[in-house]
Amino acid sequence: MQDLNKLWKIFNEKFTDTGLAKGAFSAPGRVNLIGEHTDYNEGFVLPIAIGKKIIMLGQLRNDRLVQVYDLAYKTEAKFSLDNLSPSKKDTWVNYLMGVMDEIQKAGYPLQGANLVFTSNIPQRAGLSSSAALEVVTALTIAKLNSLEIEPVEMAHLCRRAENNFVGVACGIMDQYISCLGQKNYALFIDCRTNDYELIPFKNHNYQVVICNSKVQRGLVNSEYNKRMEECKIATEFFKHKLNREIRALRDIGIDEYEKYQAQLPEIITRRARHVISENYRVQVGVQALREGNFSAFGQLMIESHRSLKNDYEVSCAELDLLVDLALKQEGVLGARMTGAGFGGCTVNLLKKDYVNAFEKTIKQEYKKITGILPEIYVTPPAEGAKQLAQLF
Ligand code: GLA
Repeated sequence: MQDLNKLWKIFNEKFTDTGLAKGAFSAPGRVNLIGEHTDYNEGFVLPIAIGKKIIMLGQLRNDRLVQVYDLAYKTEAKFSLDNLSPSKKDTWVNYLMGVMDEIQKAGYPLQGANLVFTSNIPQRAGLSSSAALEVVTALTIAKLNSLEIEPVEMAHLCRRAENNFVGVACGIMDQYISCLGQKNYALFIDCRTNDYELIPFKNHNYQVVICNSKVQRGLVNSEYNKRMEECKIATEFFKHKLNREIRALRDIGIDEYEKYQAQLPEIITRRARHVISENYRVQVGVQALREGNFSAFGQLMIESHRSLKNDYEVSCAELDLLVDLALKQEGVLGARMTGAGFGGCTVNLLKKDYVNAFEKTIKQEYKKITGILPEIYVTPPAEGAKQLAQLF
């Protein structure tokens, strides 16, 4: 990734100085350690921010125009803050426009801006490059316009941009961790109350390693929406069975599930079982980390993958292969798919001394079977979105 001086040089070549506030900002991608497909069920998640990020440089303009240059793809766009509507052609611009639309709808006044951004987060790999783009845009625009937007509000605003403007029905996890991640901590988020707790994740003996399968099925959005619907059906069922307020699968205990599960259609039973058991695993996992019990945490990751594969059915052959290969390696405590699924990445917990051997063997074995060379990223928990230098 280019350093800031080089990026400013490109910025200055691209745009005439307006004499107004200028600044540089970044927002990271994420990997979820455990708690998959629980956020939109008002449950629990435990992601970390990763070392890969988007950097955005910006300067305010005196008018209502936004000009933006995507350095990685060498492509640019121009739009007015008075005329924000989703573009069918330049879909990448919708992430930026959507965020600005939501900021304005929340009642904050905006001026136009010139923007340049660059990213080293792999796209369509389940590492939340979209959320990072939303969050870095929100931070840049807020700071340049001197708006005080708290990180939690910023995360919600970015999620609304993705739901309403981009048209993807995601939960809150990705935007939340990109806004609030901290170096050496995982973020335990209650997706109902928005409460969060930083869980120390620094141990010199262990390492998080991400394996990118380099495949992504086109199915992600339609299957994601289908799972949401199936969870709603299960929730409705329990609403009728239990004599108390039920808002989401988060409200169902494992014993209640077991008592009534036979009355549910087979697919719905399995979907509900994943969400209910996964919420439980996150809470037990957080406790294990608090006690420094990484082996117990690794075991929960393995169970999470099994549940995502068999009950929630969002894995795929390549992800299962990466998990199987990982679990055969020495020094691996846990492995699972991460993110929405149907391709993308696995997340692995390893003893540090075994990382190099793991990387070599996974690359070899996965390539031998699939013909694809996977990418491997070693990343301790990184920090969330931030301003890179004083405004000037
Ligand atoms: C995607 C969504 C998140 C979450 C995960 C699955 O990454 O954007 O909100 O639902 O899938 O856990």
